[in-house]
Order: sequence, then structure tokens, then C-alpha cells
Amino acid sequence: MKHSAGSPAPSAEIVQAAAILASGGLVAFPTETVYGLGADAEDPAAVARIYQAKGRPNDHPVIVHLAPGADLDYWSSDIPPAARQLVAAFWPGPLTLILKRNAHIPDAVSGGQDTVGLRCPSHPVAIALLSAFKGGKGGVAAPSANKFGNVSPTTAQHVRDEFGDEPLLGAVLDGGASQVGIESTILDLSRLDTRGPVLLRPGHISAQQIADVIGLLPGQPDAAAPRASGTLESHYAPHTPVLMLERAQLADSLARLQAKGKRVALIVHTLAAPAGPHVTLPATPAGYAYGLYAALREMDQSGADLILVETPPQDAEWLGVNDRLRRAVFGSSGMMEALLRS
Ligand code: TXA
Ligand code: MG
Repeated sequence: MKHSAGSPAPSAEIVQAAAILASGGLVAFPTETVYGLGADAEDPAAVARIYQAKGRPNDHPVIVHLAPGADLDYWSSDIPPAARQLVAAFWPGPLTLILKRNAHIPDAVSGGQDTVGLRCPSHPVAIALLSAFKGGKGGVAAPSANKFGNVSPTTAQHVRDEFGDEPLLGAVLDGGASQVGIESTILDLSRLDTRGPVLLRPGHISAQQIADVIGLLPGQPDAAAPRASGTLESHYAPHTPVLMLERAQLADSLARLQAKGKRVALIVHTLAAPAGPHVTLPATPAGYAYGLYAALREMDQSGADLILVETPPQDAEWLGVNDRLRRAVFGSSGMMEALLRS
């Protein structure tokens, strides 16, 4: 396999993973946000295997991951200058851009929409894989490497926990714990002329950081915005019900639930850790995001009847964290009352 002068030769594991992708197989790989479940974006049958393995509806679009320096014009058309400014500022990094797609992009990738989501991840293992695959000229379609609706994986072990010995999964690359811990910011630039930039999913790169580069503050999605499955109300959810409570109410609710014989797991960030299953996350947005999904998984497996989460601050820097927590909580409303009654 050819590699450009200056970059180190890919490891045997990377060469093999790139070959699996090239033959239509699936490879789970680390990114700085979460682990992805990858397939050749230009091979509709390979992309269909992602949907099959995830149990995900096949009309949902997937993000195409590109190597550093990839040719944007190969994948998309009518690229606005703002897109190139953002690529220069934030790639490789946790920002996905929704652009008009070129005709040769399979419907399987775009979910039949006229757009394509593109992102260049910064994790060195992801970069090595993307650079080895088709000599750095390919695209790897990859949603998060979890079953549809579940919490996204931030370690290789999480991926193995999700898929076990799924025969469709050709390899799991281990790159340690994902540094960002929540999925990339998704910015829609496909309707810039009429709607301006639209923030489809908040993440580590904030609306303000985007505005600082392109001079326009991203707006909120409207009914005509491209569909995004990560924006379904119920997503990123553990199997155990999750409730958020303000610090002041937490101790009292915990006592009432425990008096009823309920097993309660806690995720806190300022409250002193009580006895029983709990995770104390850092009280900073980046530290909290880094640990959030692992904490939800761990508390989900603790055997508790309910996971109580101390409500994080509501400031702008906490938008990504609060967005994921709101979705994890969705569907558990009324649970507290039910548990106290039973
Ligand atoms: O951080 C991330 O973005 C991770 C890592 C693996 O890169 N990927 C990820 O993929 O979160 P997924 O499939 O779990 O979420 C991708 C989101 C979905 O909500 C999908 O609908 C949206 O991106 N998306 C992808 N292409 C799109 C398009 N053309 N138009 C609108 N939304 C799109
Ligand atoms: Mg996902």
C-alpha cells in the first residue's frame, strides 16, 4: 500500500483494516469524539451492512469520514467559502459539515437527501486508517459504533460490549478512550443562502467558535432542516431509566427512593458521593463530556432501578452535555412517581 513521504508507514493492523474496508467489510475505529462503525462510503452494499449491524433505519444519513487534505469537491458541490474557512480552522477535529452532495454519492450514505455530511477526525488511529484506505482518497461512512438508540461507545471495550461476536464486524481498532467523549458538532451549510448556517447537533466546537470564523452565528433547525437521527428525542439512552435532579432535590429524592427499597445509581459532579453505585464527573464541560457515556454505561450495568443525574450548569459551554442528557432522560418521565408509588 502506498503512503505519502513524511508520514510513517501504516502498521500491519491498519493495513489489514483498510483492506477489510476495501473488500466491503465493517471496521470499528476510534475517533476523538466516539468510536465509529465504518464502511466504504462508495459501496452501497457495505453501507447497508452498517445499518444491518446497528439495527438502524436505512433512511438515516451517515457521516463520511475523510483523511486530512481530502478533496472536498469530490464529495460535494456548491461549497460555500464558509465551509472552507471552517475546514481550515477545525479539521482535523470534531466538526461535521452538511453540504450539497455530488451525484455519485450513494443514496445509502445520504439517506436519499441531496446533502452529505463530511468530517475529518483528529484521532491518530482514525487518520492512519483513513490515510491507508484507498490511498487517502476514499471516504469511510461511519455512525457511532453502537446499536441504534443506545449510548455511543467511547472505548473499544464499549464497542465489543455492543456487538459481541457480530459476524459483520471485521475488526475493532483500539485507540484508548475518546478524548472529547460526545459526538461531533453538526453544522448544516447546505442552505446557507436562504437559512444561514444551522446547528443540527451541539458538540465540543461551539456556535460561538463557528461564528468567530465565518462571521455568522448558527441558527436553530426548522422543519425543513435535514433529518438527523442523533436529533431524535430519545437517543443515547441507557436501558435503566434516567432522571435529572437539581442538587438541592437530590438527597431528599434519594432518601425517599431508598426508603421504598429502590436501588439508585448516581451521576454527580458537585455533590459529595453517597454510598452505593455512583460516578463523580469533573465539574467542567470538557471533563464531564469525556466521562459522560462511560458513566451512563457503568451505572446502567450497576443493577440499579434508576439512574439519578445531578443537573449540570445550563451555560452555553454545557450545551453539548445537556443535549445528550436531555435525550438520555427522554422516555423516563413519570418514572420517579411510578417508583415512589410501587
Ligand atoms: O462524532 C461523530 O460525529 C461520530 C463519529 C463516529 O464521527 N459519528 C456520529 O454518527 O455521531 P451518527 O450516525 O451516530 O450521527 C451522525 C448524525 C446523524 O444524526 C445523522 O442523521 C447526521 O449526522 N447526518 C449525517 N449525514 C447527514 C446529512 N447529509 N444531512 C443531515 N444529517 C446528517
Ligand atoms: Mg449515533
